[in-house]
Amino acid sequence: MTLKKQTLLVTGGAGYIGSHTVLALLEAGHEVVVLDNLSNSSPQSLARVARLAGRAPVFIEGDIRDDTVTRALFARYSIDAVLHFAGLKAVGESVREPLRYYDNNVAGSLALCQAMAAAGVFSLVFSSSATVYGEVAQMPISETTPTGRPSNPYGRSKLMVEELLADLAQSDPRWRIGVLRYFNPVGAHASGSIGEDPNGIPNNLLPYITQVAVGKLAQLTVFGDDYPTPDGTGVRDYIHVVDLAAGHLQALNALQTRSGWQVWNLGTGQGYSVLEMVHAFEAASGQAVPYRIAARRAGDVAQCWSDPAKAEQELGWCARRGLPEMMADAWRWQSANPQGYGGD
Ligand code: NAD
Ligand code: UD1
Repeated sequence: MTLKKQTLLVTGGAGYIGSHTVLALLEAGHEVVVLDNLSNSSPQSLARVARLAGRAPVFIEGDIRDDTVTRALFARYSIDAVLHFAGLKAVGESVREPLRYYDNNVAGSLALCQAMAAAGVFSLVFSSSATVYGEVAQMPISETTPTGRPSNPYGRSKLMVEELLADLAQSDPRWRIGVLRYFNPVGAHASGSIGEDPNGIPNNLLPYITQVAVGKLAQLTVFGDDYPTPDGTGVRDYIHVVDLAAGHLQALNALQTRSGWQVWNLGTGQGYSVLEMVHAFEAASGQAVPYRIAARRAGDVAQCWSDPAKAEQELGWCARRGLPEMMADAWRWQSANPQGYGGD
């Protein structure tokens, strides 16, 4: 079944994953309303999305916790479903500022659900993370793997929202909730005009690599080469952000026929080590990435990759783009936009 044309609210739609998903939604013919407080993004991302799509989403600058804004939004637009990306995501910052994380991510999601219920909107796709599984001994990780104890407040905020949503679905059969557990999103749109634009020094591996390659940072620090993995460095399931965006359309589609609380892993099913990532980036970009080995980073797990079978069976979705494409697209974005959206 294909998705009928809908009017969708995308919270956090100016951000990295949100902007790629807004583009995919516009390209599929949907009407899109973005609500974003621009705390970690630039309106330039949506201007570029509009250029790529040939039409613009409605943009409302505001906070998901502000019920004056959300009530007015639901009154004005006839929203069919909500894709909820808005939230804070920096792990280290969440350790230093847990209250800000629980407020934005947990209280923000609660306020959004209250506004949805008041407006009679009951379809929601939520951006969760593989971090909710905590430390898992057996790979790959499927949705039947029990959730664990995430190692930081960011991860715990995601797990709390998942549980809140499960309780909500249990309480009222009108709710249709899709929880998407992302593995490691990387890459950028093939045009090179939208991509990841982290504030300050990147925490995540691929933006760090691309900033070394473009000359903004001197060298990569590889956190640990003594893990029980083939080359000793950490292994993750990196997924192209355009594949991830497509997964959201398939989840919306599935919610037409499935009610209650549903969960799907969005990953490729393939793990790569830090050094494999470095070498794949060098091969795709022709740029050298100098690195040094350092101690393990606190809170890191040795390995984490998905079993993507449930999403394939139930959503008819699988990741199509491999490592060379992830690397080429990440580099195209970074080299064309060395200052991110700040260069506009
Ligand atoms: P991002 O920071 O680029 O995008 C999040 C957007 O939400 C930003 O535009 C920000 O301004 C907005 N925002 C934050 N708090 C808000 C609030 N209270 N009200 C309105 N807008 C608000 O992050 P992203 O990488 O695009 O991540 C999107 C979602 O996916 C987040 O919920 C994140 O936790 C989750 N996620 C991301 C990753 C990843 O590696 N990027 C992995 C797993 C899960
Ligand atoms: C991290 C977060 C996770 C979040 C995810 C996506 C932690 C503990 N986990 O996951 O909650 O959902 O980002 O935003 O922070 N690495 C280096 N050098 C670097 C950066 C990373 O060697 O400069 C290594 C890491 O040790 C890891 C791999 O690269 O082995 C991937 O790291 P990263 O991109 O930060 O993602 P995760 O740690 O998987």
